[in-house]
Amino acid sequence: MVILLFGPPGCGKGTQAPAISRQWKIPAISTGEMLRAEVAANTPLGQHAAVVLAAGKLIGDDTVNDMLVQRISRPDSEKGFLLDGYPRTVAQATFLDQLLLRLGFLRPLILHLSTPKSVIIERISNRRQCPTCGRIYNLLFLPPARPGVCDDDGSRLIRRKDDTPEIVENRFVEYEDQTKPVIDHYKDGCYHLINANRPSSEVFRDIQTFIEDYSDFCARNAVPPRIKKAH
Ligand code: AP5
Ligand code: MG
Repeated sequence: MVILLFGPPGCGKGTQAPAISRQWKIPAISTGEMLRAEVAANTPLGQHAAVVLAAGKLIGDDTVNDMLVQRISRPDSEKGFLLDGYPRTVAQATFLDQLLLRLGFLRPLILHLSTPKSVIIERISNRRQCPTCGRIYNLLFLPPARPGVCDDDGSRLIRRKDDTPEIVENRFVEYEDQTKPVIDHYKDGCYHLINANRPSSEVFRDIQTFIEDYSDFCARNAVPPRIKKAH
């Protein structure tokens, strides 16, 4: 199965993704995390991404589409995957439709996490992340057990470079202009709007219900997750 976690910056996509990945045993793929890894590794793509991310703009469609194709060609994605932060433009959604069709996946489940902007601003300004394992914390709502230190591996938590008020504002503009139209693209699909302005455990319960229904739908269609290639 293919699940898309959709929603504005800071709505909680990266918080929910690991739990979904663990429960349904599919990889959680975040194009944002992949781009930050490129920046950290100072690759040519990373050098370009550093500039674009710092402006709160979107990376070009061809670049992220290529990244996605490479990532889902790994064996862990064969039975399905969760996408966090992709597609972010109608062009990416159209590309993904064709890719899924070609690979024999059923249409994706879209889970749209909806949170008011004022709540998001507060969440993002208090977000901290582990640079080693990527786990996401919040100083107010989901704090680590020991201040400033990751519960899982003891690394010192960091603040994302694009979490400044000015860049967050630009990311919102991009979301409104480029990403929101993607909702219309999926209006006839398996689309669910989830109130994500609640404790993350409650949000996860809704997510579980929708994924269970979707997984039944996939099973009823009784087709293999991927069409076997003819030899
Ligand atoms: P990306 O990394 O995807 O950033 P984003 O979409 O802006 O979303 P965030 O990661 O900021 O938020 P989130 O929804 O994951 O929230 P989180 O769980 O962390 O993309 C970064 C950049 O990369 C883009 O700006 C763009 O330049 C580029 N990019 C990426 N994908 C691209 C694409 N497809 N095309 C083109 N460019 C692309 O939660 C936020 C905070 O809230 C945390 O502190 C968390 O602890 C807290 N929190 C979460 N849930 C709750 C809750 N229920 N209650 C209380 N607190 C909560
Ligand atoms: Mg995220």
